[in-house]
Amino acid sequence: SPTAQIINGKAIADSIRKEIADEVKALQEKYGKVPGLAVVLVGTKGDSATYVRMKRKACADLGIQSFSTDLPGDVSEEDLLKVVADYNANEEVHGILVQLPLPKHIDEQRILDAISLEKDVDGFHPANIGALAMRGRTPLFTSCTPKGCLELLKRSGVAISGKRAVVLGRSNIVGMPVAHLLQACALPFIIISDATVTVVHSRTPDARAICAEADILVAAIGQAEMVRGDWIKPGAAVIDVGTNPIPDASKKSGYRLVGDVAFSEAKERAGFITPVPGGVGPMTITMLLSNTVDGARRTFE
Ligand code: GUN
Repeated sequence: SPTAQIINGKAIADSIRKEIADEVKALQEKYGKVPGLAVVLVGTKGDSATYVRMKRKACADLGIQSFSTDLPGDVSEEDLLKVVADYNANEEVHGILVQLPLPKHIDEQRILDAISLEKDVDGFHPANIGALAMRGRTPLFTSCTPKGCLELLKRSGVAISGKRAVVLGRSNIVGMPVAHLLQACALPFIIISDATVTVVHSRTPDARAICAEADILVAAIGQAEMVRGDWIKPGAAVIDVGTNPIPDASKKSGYRLVGDVAFSEAKERAGFITPVPGGVGPMTITMLLSNTVDGARRTFE
């Protein structure tokens, strides 16, 4: 049997970034202003610091103005709220991103609720999530990784309407919003998705059998290679959101990243599959840049 088409997230992200760079130039010519993104990092947790560095660099590459605040891990909730309030009031800032997770002593919900709806480029404000979940409403922003997953399906020519989609995982950051996007009837930036969606999570009996019926499978559980070849319906589109470090003595770092899907097995059955790395990852930051430009355009117009 033929093996899956590998969805090249890096190439798709690069071509979208070119579109965004053109858009930034056009906005600058038309309005004399550039989009701005504020990225707030609390503490020095390794992968958070890496992601934040990548986000700031991506802004610079595309001509988006980057605002940075790095706070110590023991910063008070009040001081962090003050930083958010200042960015809310700053007219040069069109998007605010507070990197998650936050330290235990800070109430994450309180921080996310404080970000202006018009600058919520992560799409984590409950009003934006609420609008995503309701028919006839349009969120101002949709979360970056879920939006990236849908964009990969769309740009790979995978049909969604009427298909059976299974989402593995129910997190606020990926599983829950991607499930809503897959069943959405119409959102302005794409999508007439109209899948029939099942969400599978840690308390679901017989996850394997449910996944095996999926025409589209999105795995976002953070369990290295949990989804085996026999979980995949032949010809299915598989989107792997996982980035799990596993020991690898041949690497200088001592580890390598694998997805939630056992790639070498799954690619023998799937019709389409994203690799890890190089699949969903490059799309997340690209969608953040896209959301920032959308937010800026709304304030310029
Ligand atoms: N931590 C992991 N993913 C994300 C994301 O998309 N946005 C933010 N702010 N934090 C994250």
